[in-house]
Amino acid sequence: MSLLTISGSPSLNSRSGRLLDHAAARLRKLGHVTERLPVRELPAEALLHARFDHPQIVEASAQVARATGVVIATPVYKAAYSGLLKSFLDLLPQDGLKGKVVLPLATGGSKAHLLALDYALRPVLAALGARYVLASVYATDAEIGSDSDGGVLLSPELDLRLEEGIAHLDETLARLQVPFFGAASDEGAGRFVRGNAPLQLARA
Ligand SMILES: Cc1cc2nc3c(=O)[nH]c(=O)nc-3n(C[C@H](O)[C@H](O)[C@H](O)COP(=O)(O)O)c2cc1C
Repeated sequence: MSLLTISGSPSLNSRSGRLLDHAAARLRKLGHVTERLPVRELPAEALLHARFDHPQIVEASAQVARATGVVIATPVYKAAYSGLLKSFLDLLPQDGLKGKVVLPLATGGSKAHLLALDYALRPVLAALGARYVLASVYATDAEIGSDSDGGVLLSPELDLRLEEGIAHLDETLARLQVPFFGAASDEGAGRFVRGNAPLQLARA
């Protein structure tokens, strides 16, 4: 199953972006294929002027359409998610997240805006048709550091929360695969494949 990571920070050396890349690496270890979509690399003029037909916006929308699961990371800006992320979400079709599983991640300067994803981003994801918006993972800046090689270091508490979020995403995606094969055709029904490991499922 293909997973898309969407980074909504305007910063080049972004904390939420590093948390997202770290989550993607863990998901690949579980056998998922991941694609990246850093919104800051899309043309600013296309985002600001809502150019739905710009080739890079069309391609970015297609990346979203191809994904079964989406991990979205954003910094908290002014008690909400970033305007950059909103400028992209506004360019998706109304049902742009239809049937998808979404795991939101956020980083903020303090815990004061811990609920920003729930009151600000979650309703938008639901309006775009997301099938499941999983419990979000929130990190403060103090919980994310770097090692001497520039790799990301997480506090033990954040590491655990992220692990739980990833496990939840992985399990939810695995559950979604069962009816997909059964409904599409008899070929492959009762069986699904994640990564290189074919698994046998009992028929109901
Ligand atoms: C314009 C701006 C507004 C911010 N507003 C908040 C805020 O309301 N609450 C908060 O906890 N942190 C706030 N922060 C801090 C960032 O959320 C935090 O440093 C975050 O980790 C940055 O993520 P990034 O490196 O991925 O951009 C703000 C930072 C900036 C630059």
